[in-house]
Amino acid sequence: MKGQAQATATDNRMAASMAQQVRHHPRRHAAVRTDEYLYSQLIPYIGNKRKLLPLIAQAIAKTGIEDGTFVDLTTGTTVVARLAKTLGFRVLANDWEPYSYEIALGTVTLNEPPAFASIGGANKVFARLNTLDPMDGYIARHLCPVDDENPDPERERMFFTRANGGRIDAIREQIERWDRAGRLSAEERAYIFASLVYAVSYVSNTSGVFKGFHHGWGGKTSTALYRILSRLTLRPPVLLDNGQDNVSTREDVQQLASRLPDVIGERPDIAYLDPPYNQHPYGSNYHVLNTVVLWDKPPLNPSILVDGKKHDKSAIRRDWRTERRSPYNHENQALSALQSLVASIEARWLLVSYSTDGNIPLMDLLGTLAARGHLDMVANSYKRYRVSTPRMSPKSHNVEFVAVVDLDAPPSPDRVEPIARAILTREAKALSQAEEINAGQLSLV
Ligand SMILES: C[S@@+](CC[C@H](N)C(=O)[O-])C[C@H]1O[C@@H](n2cnc3c(N)ncnc32)[C@H](O)[C@@H]1O
Repeated sequence: MKGQAQATATDNRMAASMAQQVRHHPRRHAAVRTDEYLYSQLIPYIGNKRKLLPLIAQAIAKTGIEDGTFVDLTTGTTVVARLAKTLGFRVLANDWEPYSYEIALGTVTLNEPPAFASIGGANKVFARLNTLDPMDGYIARHLCPVDDENPDPERERMFFTRANGGRIDAIREQIERWDRAGRLSAEERAYIFASLVYAVSYVSNTSGVFKGFHHGWGGKTSTALYRILSRLTLRPPVLLDNGQDNVSTREDVQQLASRLPDVIGERPDIAYLDPPYNQHPYGSNYHVLNTVVLWDKPPLNPSILVDGKKHDKSAIRRDWRTERRSPYNHENQALSALQSLVASIEARWLLVSYSTDGNIPLMDLLGTLAARGHLDMVANSYKRYRVSTPRMSPKSHNVEFVAVVDLDAPPSPDRVEPIARAILTREAKALSQAEEINAGQLSLV
């Protein structure tokens, strides 16, 4: 998590300089450093593209589009939408997870901090929320031990210290009171939520996903104790003004794809798709973030032990185990979902991030894209992402690539085989070298 919470200086420099090199936008915010905006308060997230921003900037540059409209169809942390903003694009950021939508509204749609006129300004709002006394509310009672010094992981959930759980409750109840009194606009609420969701992730006693928690603060190694035991504090999100009317939506991408011109008033120049690659459903993995945003307080027994048996240890809302199940999480549904999205999408260019160990076989993926237009690609090889324990796959590296499709050009089935070969050659090379390769990038013209 520490690694995720702090992008390396090299990554920051590469993406920021990429943003600077590609084009200059006259209204790009001078007061905020581009990389400060890009990496500010990004939640740790499976499949996030923080490290791949230089590759994505390269894919965007291949389109030759400048100052157009960019749609991030599955925005997650919003880091790619933020990159597009720094490049001067007008941006639509979409994701069907509520926490992601709030982050997008609070950090991508907004160009400057909202006024918070009825509460006396942003400084007052954040100062008030950071000085509330902790309270014994839903989070403290259900997701925290009674005594931080003597937790009992056999009976108690340990997602947060009781002290921080009480702070989350106090902050969230205060937001609710302001909201009910009509003192917050949707943008103002989202600006606070973007900060709260990050702070909640930061102090959580997890490895970044909320399917489980460490037994004992910080787990066996206790390496993350510095953040888990730190006092939850909200910081106002860093924003960047691209001088554009940016938009955020919370829709199923399968429905949204064909309606993009209706939603933003024009056919977008670039639509970027970064679907889930594997079986991990986001709604379950980040259920606590959704609960904090929605304040739905799903009914739970405060103790994990009921009649001597363990129940609802992960506290995942029952309906979320089936609701918002993405077809991209399933090997037998992912390809047909991609086919229908690609067939219906209304955009000038389509960019798709995928990897060689995703649910959709490489040839099928490339074939689907080439059927809609001229196919191109940029690729790089990476160490495989591991949530906490090594997965069973023997592969230590995979290739992450961005397919670039010119949707106004004729289909290009003859491009599939050479592009697939280039990707697989790169993977074989990375596996044989068995070391992280970040430098050389491959591009088929
Ligand atoms: C690989 S993650 C995107 C990561 C993102 N590019 C980033 O860098 O943070 C995939 C995202 O797709 C979203 N998603 C999955 N299925 C979806 C659907 N049918 N409609 C909208 N969003 C969906 C998930 O909620 C998740 O945030």
